[in-house]
Amino acid sequence: MLIKPNANGFVHPVASEITTLSAYQSRRDLIRLMATGAAGAAMASWAGREAWAQNWTPPGQRTALARVNSTVAGAVTMEKVTTYKDATTYNNFYEFGTDKADPAHNAHTLKTSPWSVEIEGLVKKPGRWALEDLLKLSAQEERIYRLRCVEGWSMVIPWVGYSLSQLIKRVEPLGSAKYVEFVTLADPKTMPGVDSRVLNWPYVEGLRLDEAMHPLTLLAFGMYGEILPNQNGAPLRLVVPWKYGFKSGKSLVKIRFTDKQPVTAWNRAAAEEYGFYSNVNPTVDHPRWSQATERRIGEDGLFARKRKTLMFNGYEAQVGQLYAGMDLRMSF
Ligand code: MTE
Repeated sequence: MLIKPNANGFVHPVASEITTLSAYQSRRDLIRLMATGAAGAAMASWAGREAWAQNWTPPGQRTALARVNSTVAGAVTMEKVTTYKDATTYNNFYEFGTDKADPAHNAHTLKTSPWSVEIEGLVKKPGRWALEDLLKLSAQEERIYRLRCVEGWSMVIPWVGYSLSQLIKRVEPLGSAKYVEFVTLADPKTMPGVDSRVLNWPYVEGLRLDEAMHPLTLLAFGMYGEILPNQNGAPLRLVVPWKYGFKSGKSLVKIRFTDKQPVTAWNRAAAEEYGFYSNVNPTVDHPRWSQATERRIGEDGLFARKRKTLMFNGYEAQVGQLYAGMDLRMSF
């Protein structure tokens, strides 16, 4: 295993170990697509997408080079990847409606170019980053993460992006910065769901600074080797694989560094149900349902068994140390 304990004895993957064989290819494809504005064209028919997904091989089974990457702690799982069709038609993106099928039907109105992300708050280098500059900031890599939704279903998705820490290091948080707030787009003209009162828009999420800096926290620009479909959070989103899916904000427009714990959209809507941390934890139930098991999307047959949910969604070895000494029942 190419993993090294740091000074605290805690195992962190280093960036070079996370990069996969397809990194170069993915980055080239993404940048080419962004440059030519061919994003829409790249959204070929589902049949085409599906053929691609079927031919898609887990990195560990590709080449010697790829196998090196499959040993990276947490960044790759050998579990069967969810089909592209399921990952792009069964979504939560309330700005486009609350039904799972709504985002795929409605998100074509989202205008992803031009796009920029404002960095503000307690940082030495605040400012507005154009999407093109964010794309170029660091090498894109493919990471196959489990995504566990608080509602009790899960998927396995090959994301493309880089560690959010790359951007955070570049903007230099001040010593007083303890949290990072993520604000996503709320545009009533293109997002029909923003009229609804389900949530207080914009959708806001947050992490502690050390969580945001963790190498597993991904700033994603793509999935399945292509740019993100609108319904999955184009043109860029967060993926925090050890937390319930709602922590992974889509279509980010602002990243703010603060000294106070951000008030997140779901916490504001129902504080007793959705805590700030929202780490996947099979021993802490949601007030209205158990979190001990999950339904893997694609395994929905009559006789399909539910899977046991794993502590920190299976990423305990990588992130458990972040919560040492904390009562996870209180800080849920
Ligand atoms: N981001 C925004 N802006 N709006 C949302 O409604 N839903 C969250 C999260 N990010 C949501 C969001 C929830 S509940 C989940 S489970 C994941 O996105 C779903 O991501 P996916 O549709 O790409 O699987």
